[in-house]
Amino acid sequence: MTVEQPTAESTEAPARDWFQSAVVYQVYPRSFADSDGDGIGDLRGIISKLDYLHRLGVDVLWLSPIYTSPQDDNGYDIGDYRSVDPIFGTLADLQELTDGLHTRGMKLVMDLVVSHTSDEHPWFVESRSSKDNPKRDWYWWRKPRAGTVPGTPGAEPNNWGSAFSGPAWDYDPASGEYYLHLFSKKQPDLNWENPDVRAAVYEMMNWWLDRGVDGFRMDVINFISKDTALPDGPMADGRLYGDGTPYYIGGPRIHEFLQEMHREVFADRTGPLLTVGEMPGVTVEEAVLFTDPARAEVDMVFQFEHVALDQENGNKWRPKKLKLTELKETLGRWQDGLAATGWNSLYWGNHDQARAVSRFGDDSPQYRELSAKMLAGILHLHRGTPYVYQGEELGMTNMSFGAISDYRDIEVLNHHREATTHLGHTDADVLAALAPLNRDNARTPVQWDATRHAGFTTGAPWIAVNPNANHINAAAQIDDPGSVYNFYRQVIELRHTDAAVSHGDFTMLMPEDEHVYAFTRSIPGSTLLVLGNFSGIGQHVTLGEAWDTAEPVLGNYPGNASASDQLRPWELKVFRRHSDG
Ligand code: GLC
Repeated sequence: MTVEQPTAESTEAPARDWFQSAVVYQVYPRSFADSDGDGIGDLRGIISKLDYLHRLGVDVLWLSPIYTSPQDDNGYDIGDYRSVDPIFGTLADLQELTDGLHTRGMKLVMDLVVSHTSDEHPWFVESRSSKDNPKRDWYWWRKPRAGTVPGTPGAEPNNWGSAFSGPAWDYDPASGEYYLHLFSKKQPDLNWENPDVRAAVYEMMNWWLDRGVDGFRMDVINFISKDTALPDGPMADGRLYGDGTPYYIGGPRIHEFLQEMHREVFADRTGPLLTVGEMPGVTVEEAVLFTDPARAEVDMVFQFEHVALDQENGNKWRPKKLKLTELKETLGRWQDGLAATGWNSLYWGNHDQARAVSRFGDDSPQYRELSAKMLAGILHLHRGTPYVYQGEELGMTNMSFGAISDYRDIEVLNHHREATTHLGHTDADVLAALAPLNRDNARTPVQWDATRHAGFTTGAPWIAVNPNANHINAAAQIDDPGSVYNFYRQVIELRHTDAAVSHGDFTMLMPEDEHVYAFTRSIPGSTLLVLGNFSGIGQHVTLGEAWDTAEPVLGNYPGNASASDQLRPWELKVFRRHSDG
């Protein structure tokens, strides 16, 4: 294993947008902080933690949905885009949150969920009311498959499965037609072919920007253009329904729609805004197009390749061991692919993913803190805009749930029902298979202190608090310079102050090594070397002579890391070398 001499062939860093040196923090409001004792986090809870976030150093808060919603999918089923759900607070609270962020020099990015609405949204209520309602065409209504008995299995217009189990269609007996829902049946898909739908969405986005929000995280935005023929999809092993993704991921009009959105919503605005498109299944080649500033679509996308490496065929209910070489190949390919044009977003976790330290690190008592810090350093020193998911900065771990009744997520509950009733799996097998990657891992309340319910609520929490809150919590970390929280502060600060981090070229090193993640970031005159040990076994790296006099920048073991060729278990070491010129 030899760390080769880095090549610092970068030219002057181009004047890119502000978000190159920014870090985003995601709040999942239901699980963040509860101010009123109803057991559900809320806006006033977030307001009470603004100083905590400010101290962490993050620049942007991405707020998962707080809009009025039946909460079938925890707010990703919106009933009214312009009001706040009473469980979270009021529009006045949201304004106070926005102002509180702005006062502290931070920005607010809202979640934009416009691939579907709730079935209780007035648009859908109208659409469902009759076949000739003017809003009928705002959603995807189709006749039953010819020659079938409507409302019985197999009569759906095509064979697509929903992401939350079952068919992607629900039958409406009153009109004798089905509507499409790629997620739950309470999340009917909007028909973006209809220009009135698009105009209504843009008007709503403008309304929010006019109120002072600073951008949007766009939920499954690469699903909005569908092949209007809605053909049957291929069947996969172990699945009951066809895979419709070839007909709606990055569909025929996706770039046209996003360019139109940009023109109608963002083009005439001058402020520093941020747009990030959540895009399951997006390829690097497509991402270049989506994020090329000259094309004016979105600033960055969330890709999903690196969070599919620890499962068979992208099936999260079939987990497998992650190979570090594959992780490096994937993230390295995204770094290279977006080096010249476009921009990366960087994340280990969010409200849909398992906890970073449990998934990519080692959450045992011995290595949890070390590996959480190592992961922070590796991710944040890539080229791109890093995202911190609430609690990640504390090294929060996956939850060990017991029975299916401990779970809250519709995705888990539906899967468990389908697998035990239709696929013949035992309860124990299903629970074991869904434990590592289910979404409720990330949704247990943020652990603020060691008091009852981790200081999250004075009431009964909507989902169990992780028992390890007695020692993993914010109160124990804020003033401890050696804590995971304070390590996150350091890496966030590095992005703000070091141009090699915000603008430097990225070069992956040692791609074949199964334990060490190594890369350089270079700007003219300065190169950072980043080394991370993804294992609990010491590793040896051969540093070239050029690194003999390198200056230590960051490390996760106490004391100054030396540029030695040893990496201790889960060690992270970062060095800087000044080059001539
Ligand atoms: C996105 C969200 C996820 C939600 C789904 C449907 O993937 O992140 O939480 O369930 O879209 O809205």
